[in-house]
Amino acid sequence: MDIIKTTTIDFSHYLTEQEISAIEHEASIMEYREAAGIEALKIIQEHRGWVSDDSLYAIADLLQMPSAQLEEVATFYNLIYRQKVGQYVIHLCDSISCHLQGYDEILAAIKAHLNIDYGQTTNDGVFTLLSNVCLGGCDKAPTMMIAKQHYQQLTPESAIDILTTLKEKAVTAKTKKTKGSNAND
Ligand code: FES
Repeated sequence: MDIIKTTTIDFSHYLTEQEISAIEHEASIMEYREAAGIEALKIIQEHRGWVSDDSLYAIADLLQMPSAQLEEVATFYNLIYRQKVGQYVIHLCDSISCHLQGYDEILAAIKAHLNIDYGQTTNDGVFTLLSNVCLGGCDKAPTMMIAKQHYQQLTPESAIDILTTLKEKAVTAKTKKTKGSNAND
């Protein structure tokens, strides 16, 4: 007779003490532990930039909820990233008002400038491009959101200017970090 071996994985190994403590705090102020699911996902994303499968299972384990249920929560919120993303995620609104106000031109300009399509990340890891439902600025369409900042009344030129500024910021931050780590060597 074959012996089937089962392994129990302790997913708490996949979370840091700091993350566990922040998630426990959220759970402590909710009526049910699983109600802290979305906040827990945000905490992990804040620390790691995205939510991997391992992290999601670890959160579900910690909150004593089915991982499928937490996956549903993560899928519902389009600001939770389930794949590795770039330093800046461009959420370009593709809803009706933006479509009527020049969305196609903005999208074409961004795609040509970054050489990526929806769902892709630039080779330098700086930008990921995603579509987004209405960002709530229909009277100032077309719009996009990057790093919680809303940009409105975009033109192809202004969109590229914004990306150029952010790229410079990313390069400056990287240079500073490199200099800092060299100084510590
Ligand atoms: S349709 Fe784009 S902000 Fe509302």
